[in-house]
Amino acid sequence: MERAVARIDYDAVRANCARLKSELGEAELCAVVKADGYGHGADRCANAALEGGATRLAVATAGEAEQIGRRFQHVPLLTMGALTVEEVDVAFSAGSELAVWREDFRRLVADRARAHGRRARVHVKYDTGMGRLGNRDPAEVLALVRACAADPALELGGIWTHLATADEPDSPFFDEQLDRFEEVAGTVKAEHPEVTVHAANSAAVLRDRRSHHEMARCGVAIYGLDPFQRDPAEHGLRPAMTLRSHVADVKRFPAGASAGYGRKWRAPTDTWVGVVPLGYGDGVRRALTNNADVLVRGRRQPLVGTVSMDNLTIDLGPETEVEPGDEAVLIGSQDTETILAEEVAHRLDTINYEVTCAISPRVPRRPA
Ligand SMILES: Cc1ncc(COP(=O)(O)O)c(C=O)c1O
Repeated sequence: MERAVARIDYDAVRANCARLKSELGEAELCAVVKADGYGHGADRCANAALEGGATRLAVATAGEAEQIGRRFQHVPLLTMGALTVEEVDVAFSAGSELAVWREDFRRLVADRARAHGRRARVHVKYDTGMGRLGNRDPAEVLALVRACAADPALELGGIWTHLATADEPDSPFFDEQLDRFEEVAGTVKAEHPEVTVHAANSAAVLRDRRSHHEMARCGVAIYGLDPFQRDPAEHGLRPAMTLRSHVADVKRFPAGASAGYGRKWRAPTDTWVGVVPLGYGDGVRRALTNNADVLVRGRRQPLVGTVSMDNLTIDLGPETEVEPGDEAVLIGSQDTETILAEEVAHRLDTINYEVTCAISPRVPRRPA
């Protein structure tokens, strides 16, 4: 038995990709495996995603490009994030395609490509409203596209944008961004029919075919997390991660006895308390103090007392059959009960992405 383990269901990743691909039809699926595959393990998830129908991969950083590029040499890889001068070399040497949205950076990439004696494939990013990376000016975007196409050191791979409110079904901003994008992308496509036009993330793929274009960059849904923060089953997605530990000790607590730092919980009556060796050092957030359930023997047991770095405590009630060694599930199912990452996220007033990304490297990832 292990102290704690995140079990990853690669069949679920494969099935989720096939599900997205069924929406996308001819459009390509690019599996986003940044942040160690949203905490699920980038290498193995990338492999499963490719088996499930993804034909490209994307990461955010040069370090991630190095890891994924080395392993999947024949799969087109896009590094989506901002890169320093040194990082351009790292990502480019790993075989990655690069995001470009400034003329000075375009020139830098071209210089580095010439130095390496090989063309760099670039995707020009139009900021249609995310207000983050990308160029906000459509005229500058078109100028950049033309400069990339004219530079023999570069190969124009794509024109792209990122959507700010795809996961908010009532937001008209989604359509405003797509309107803006389509105008520029239409001109680019007319001049350079070979480029890949891409805008959609997971939520957009499930929300509106209009966003699909020639490729979608999907992260959260391939891991079976719901982009709309509800139940992934509503969209035919299967959660890939479970987080399991065990009950390390069971102790009698007289009424009034407290659990954990700061005595944030006191037993209201005589009760039994279970100690689970998982804490914020494992990515189980301290804000779950008195604010979560843990499954043991198929039942929800309330997490009580302060979550510490290595341990948390659960109230097993005045009568219990729970024994040291029993499995404790923080995310996942036991018998008929299930705790989704979405539930944990709601408790924390955050999103499922942050819950799985937060599971720290101290927790081994193993196949389910
Ligand atoms: C630029 C970009 N594209 C695509 C994605 C994938 O989004 P999602 O995980 O919502 O599918 C992300 C993730 O944050 C991103 O930053």
